[in-house]
Amino acid sequence: MELPFAESWRIKMVEHIRKSTKEERLQWLRDAHYNVFQLRAEQVYIDLLTDSGTGAMSDRQWAAMMTGDESYAGARSFYRMKDTITRITGFEYVVPTHQGRAAENVVFSHLVHEGDIVPGNSHFDTTKGHIESRKAFAVDCTVDEAKDTALDYPFKGNVDISKLRRVLEADADKVPFIIVTITNNTAGGQPVSMQNLKEVRALADEFGKRVIFDSARFAENAYFIKIRENGYSDKTIKEIVREMFSLADGMTMSAKKDALVNMGGFFATRHADWYEGAKRFVIPFEGYLTYGGMNGRDMEALAVGLDENTEFDNLHSRIHQVEYLAAKLDEYGIPYQRPAGGHALFIDASRILTHVPKEEFPAQTLTVELYLEAGIRGCEIGYILADRDPVTRENRFDGLDLMRLAIPRRTYTDNHMNVVAAALKNVYDRRESITRGVRIVWESELMRHFTVRLAPAGQE
Ligand code: F0G
Repeated sequence: MELPFAESWRIKMVEHIRKSTKEERLQWLRDAHYNVFQLRAEQVYIDLLTDSGTGAMSDRQWAAMMTGDESYAGARSFYRMKDTITRITGFEYVVPTHQGRAAENVVFSHLVHEGDIVPGNSHFDTTKGHIESRKAFAVDCTVDEAKDTALDYPFKGNVDISKLRRVLEADADKVPFIIVTITNNTAGGQPVSMQNLKEVRALADEFGKRVIFDSARFAENAYFIKIRENGYSDKTIKEIVREMFSLADGMTMSAKKDALVNMGGFFATRHADWYEGAKRFVIPFEGYLTYGGMNGRDMEALAVGLDENTEFDNLHSRIHQVEYLAAKLDEYGIPYQRPAGGHALFIDASRILTHVPKEEFPAQTLTVELYLEAGIRGCEIGYILADRDPVTRENRFDGLDLMRLAIPRRTYTDNHMNVVAAALKNVYDRRESITRGVRIVWESELMRHFTVRLAPAGQE
């Protein structure tokens, strides 16, 4: 008999989590203005808000933390981290930052100016924010396949090369660089193929442009290339990663994802001029060149995490769990962005809560219902997150309306996934009775989803 799959790790330390009653959850939700970001984490049973900084570190990472060198300048821990990054990515210059968006801030301060155009594949919100706040434009060139959640397509994160070409042909002089997000978070944790990365490189070269990878989940991307793309099944993850980064000029990194740490980030590049430019901003914004917002111990843990998470077994354990939850949802007929992504499942609320008008935010309503059902916290990636059009101030209803269930790394067991799937099925089974959603009581102008106050629609 063939042996079943099991994780490539065992558990050495546990953290208690608590179930609550429906009455408690109803009260907590009212107190939180129907915005799950406003809940206390203790009020959550299974927390799938994000996979960012929420994973479990290994014994080797914890051990490495004890060896952190906390010197202000020239710490040994920085050089250990830098050497690991250079070995894994091939980039010689490394600028540490406290997290991913800080790396964006430092690099974009050097490179992005008013009127610029930064094409890419579904820029993450902070990436877009750092472009738009500089009065520049983020142009989304993701393939159209990503918009059809029911379509099974192996590389839904890809850049549409003809869309990118059109941008470059029209406005190449305004483009400071191209940014490719691997994996494509917003499109559903969907990977970008090596073929596509090569095509982006070729087009960039044709127009004399440089390419940055937003690399938060680069290791998961490499895993999908190995599994799904012809010619890569015999290559190691580390070989695939080196090949991927050979096609870029630099990378911004949120180490809170694929470097398996709770906090940290960096910018890395092969170009001395980019390094010099970033140096000017890292010191005032983040800290000195050899720590940039991280402790010595953080840099030690990051170095070990990068090594661990570019090994096949670790990634296989992770993606297997995401696919396990996806298989349960298939069994129950619950629609999500297909195929299962790297770090999360994106549930298609518009195909579930069909009676809730879009003005009442179906994906947010689904998020609220799932929390009420079992204390499970997902996150709306839909019409609330999309903010208003900066010119018309109208809600933007042209994108997808999804609820993301992001799975922290090495944190929950498949039993927890069973609970998540069953709770979602219970909501799904009563979907016809859910006819009203939520209305906005108060919102901020930008990134409103974090702080928005909501109330049940149709109630005072
Ligand atoms: N790029 C991508 C693709 C991301 O997913 C994130 C964060 C960032 C950049 C910013 O990194 O949080 O370290 O500043 N994504 C988290 C999420 C917050 O929940 O998807 P950060």
